[in-house]
Amino acid sequence: MALILAFALVVVMVALGAYYFQSPYYSGVDRTPAQPVPFSHKHHVGELGLDCRYCHTSVEQSSFAGVPESEICMTCHSQLWTNADMLAPVRDSLRDDKPLRWRRVHDLPDYVRFDHSAHVNNGVPCEACHGRVDRMPLTTQKKTLFMQFCLDCHRNPAPRLRPPDAVFEMGWEARRGVDRQQLGERLMARYHTPSTERLTDCSLCHQ
Ligand code: HEC
Ligand code: HEC
Ligand code: HEC
Ligand code: HEC
Ligand code: HEC
Repeated sequence: MALILAFALVVVMVALGAYYFQSPYYSGVDRTPAQPVPFSHKHHVGELGLDCRYCHTSVEQSSFAGVPESEICMTCHSQLWTNADMLAPVRDSLRDDKPLRWRRVHDLPDYVRFDHSAHVNNGVPCEACHGRVDRMPLTTQKKTLFMQFCLDCHRNPAPRLRPPDAVFEMGWEARRGVDRQQLGERLMARYHTPSTERLTDCSLCHQ
């Protein structure tokens, strides 16, 4: 009897463990933290057509994409929806000269090195790591950002690379009839993409 119980306990623990490691609690996928203002990329990017760089101004120059200051919101919202309760935290932040505290959606452990500019200036699109942001009413994490996720691309970046003008675009596809792998290899030559060896070297991402 004790043996059967012990066995049943092991089965339950394995099942729970498997569930945990696949669940969003562990992987972060579909994590959607509540924000001080319910900012919608679906509205501002998908419908109004704003470019990522309008708000994430440092994404091409630095390791950080950065989140916009309230001034940027106010270029429009000092004229539009000026009294909306929803936007009160933006107005307060400007009046009190205190930045809005947006909650992080993506957060790598500190022992990992990551650089936005190195990716977006070399043909790696926002969409590859953040998904269809233009369809998100609230910003959601779409990829695990685990080491395996990074390495899957670092081992074979060709099919994910895009021409420079398509890096910020959502839903871009190569013209019909174009061989994606071949196009990718031409792009790798153009961007001087480092070798697989270099891109999978531990010291690239860990000091
Ligand atoms: C009108 C301004 C605006 C534009 C345009 C914009 N964003 Fe954002 N973005 C924000 C704000 C504000 C936040 C912080 C609140 C949030 O996470 O929703 C944010 C957050 C994000 C985050 C999550 C950051 C984190 O904490 O991990 C990602 C990813 C992102 N934006 C990607 C994009 C991409 C890709 C584009 C272009 C397709 C884009 N954004 C265009 C304003 C903007
Ligand atoms: C280029 C102009 C522009 C900028 C910049 C802009 N917005 Fe908007 N925003 C709009 C428009 C247009 C609407 C839609 C109004 C409507 O549909 O009646 C809107 C709507 C909203 C809404 C209402 C809810 C919804 O449907 O999304 C919120 C909240 C909001 N914006 C927050 C922000 C924040 C926060 C920022 C800065 C990070 C920002 N906006 C920057 C133009 C802008
Ligand atoms: C190769 C993958 C990758 C690409 C491409 C990428 N991001 Fe990110 N992004 C990340 C990771 C990983 C983080 C979390 C970084 C951290 O925790 O240090 C992040 C964080 C962010 C943040 C939060 C603030 C910050 O800088 O940490 C914003 C905003 C953002 N990304 C926007 C963008 C936009 C806009 C683009 C395209 C112009 C883009 N990202 C392209 C992987 C990527
Ligand atoms: C969709 C493809 C793709 C994904 C996903 C991706 N990378 Fe990269 N990464 C690249 C490419 C391509 C380069 C080489 C860019 C160049 O120099 O041409 C690169 C370069 C780098 C570099 C070197 C930057 C420098 O300063 O030269 C680091 C560090 C890095 N990636 C970290 C990461 C981490 C960490 C992740 C996961 C969170 C990640 N990457 C996910 C494609 C990707
Ligand atoms: C392209 C970037 C990249 C490269 C190259 C890379 N790592 Fe990682 N590594 C990561 C990321 C991202 C994480 C964080 C995963 C998470 O969020 O738990 C990580 C986490 C780890 C961890 C913590 C445990 C774990 O698996 O989560 C260890 C140990 C590790 N890496 C060792 C290595 C070794 C050894 C190499 C070389 C063979 C290597 N890494 C190469 C990106 C990289």
